[in-house]
Amino acid sequence: MNKEKKGGFSSGIGFVLAAAGSAVGVGNIWRFPYLAAKDGGGLFLLVYLVLVLTFGFTLLTSDIAIGRKTQKSSIGAYTQMRPKWKFLGILTFLVPVIIMTYYAVIGGWICRYIVAYITGAGHVAAGDSFFTSFITSPVSSSIYALIFMLITAAIIYNGVQGGIEKVSRIIMPVLLVMIVGIAIYSMTLSFTDGSGVTRTSMEGFLLYVTPNFKGLTLPKFLQVLLDAMSQLFFSLSVSMGIMITYGSYVKKDVNLNKSVAQIEVFDTVVAFLAGLMIIPAVYVFSGIEGMQSGPSLMFVSLPKVFDAMGSFGWIVGLIFFVMVAFAALTSCISVLEAIVANCMAIFSAPRKKVTISCGIIYCIASVVIALGYSLFYVEIPLPNGSMAQLLDLMDYISNSFMMPFISLLSTILIGWVVEPKWIIDEVEYGGYKFSRKKLYIVMIKYVTPIMMFILFLQSTGILNMIL
Ligand code: PHE
Repeated sequence: MNKEKKGGFSSGIGFVLAAAGSAVGVGNIWRFPYLAAKDGGGLFLLVYLVLVLTFGFTLLTSDIAIGRKTQKSSIGAYTQMRPKWKFLGILTFLVPVIIMTYYAVIGGWICRYIVAYITGAGHVAAGDSFFTSFITSPVSSSIYALIFMLITAAIIYNGVQGGIEKVSRIIMPVLLVMIVGIAIYSMTLSFTDGSGVTRTSMEGFLLYVTPNFKGLTLPKFLQVLLDAMSQLFFSLSVSMGIMITYGSYVKKDVNLNKSVAQIEVFDTVVAFLAGLMIIPAVYVFSGIEGMQSGPSLMFVSLPKVFDAMGSFGWIVGLIFFVMVAFAALTSCISVLEAIVANCMAIFSAPRKKVTISCGIIYCIASVVIALGYSLFYVEIPLPNGSMAQLLDLMDYISNSFMMPFISLLSTILIGWVVEPKWIIDEVEYGGYKFSRKKLYIVMIKYVTPIMMFILFLQSTGILNMIL
């Protein structure tokens, strides 16, 4: 049974790349830029950076240290910490269980765009109805989701070192090169529209990085803070047991403090570069209004930008979507791994068997969610006021509802029940220095639980009812 443990990550860097692979996903490339555009550019960047270095660091350190210390995935790990807290392990396990139902569906959407650019249909993909007609077509959206799901399962089937680490070691550096390349290209653009107005990417860049304090009120600032906070969670893949599972595969001689810092830097740099690549380009071709397009930015606005680039556009579009597919794949892998690892422990079954069973279950689940825009179309009102289809509903339950709640409970567990020393000992194991130790203690005991409570109230809509 413990064969798997010996087959953990081969080195510190293998672990960092796999964890960064989990952290860097559609959240960085699609969600971060649109939040930055919405929340006052540089102001959002500044707030986000401060949160990464405080909250992000605290939650990531905790997850990874719990995993390595207990050598178990979430259910086993929390049970080992305090048997009475097993329920928290189960709750944590449920987050990837829910996320996995829809992540491959989004992966499938991305693949659809890759195929569009390869087959020379970039112009068609820029059409207003392309995205909607694709996701509402039952057969093709299901097939793409299945393809993405099967690729993910095949990698997990090959194990930690032979699957996850091997793929991450290739994909992550390539992803970085691609994103830097497109960001540089994006910074060279300029465009004169029908009315003779010329916009340059430099102007777009300044909009992105300059803090916009105009009309800033306290409630607005609070909104920016909470947006940045929930983005951070999602982006670092914390509080869902993923980093606990990955932590359990890390060798004892790896410097955890340094690894955490490297993962933070990787994730934040990619998010920043994604904004650098997207915001100036969208500004140049669609002006300020284009930047405000919110969630549809990646699938609707960007293909229009690539189309407007002329003969070069399709290749930039292709590289862009391949890069996003890479980012989504390494994240999807980590979600499935967290599920498989827990199931291997629950059923005392070998990896291959568990992967096949989970693969079949999630192929079915992915198809159901993909059909949520056609055969199973629903409109469910969420507590935060928006209308949800199946995919949004799953996303809401896992990210807005469960994650802040789990973080709240786990910071109470670590800060007050087992005490921070339990984590600190693990980080300092082997004589390594824990460089932000004092900050960690204050964060885990006081600041994080309070903030998580506020975040929970906000994302469930309770805060709006009080204010
Ligand atoms: N961290 C990933 C991102 O930024 C998303 C993710 C969420 C990955 C949940 C795994 C689990 O997109």
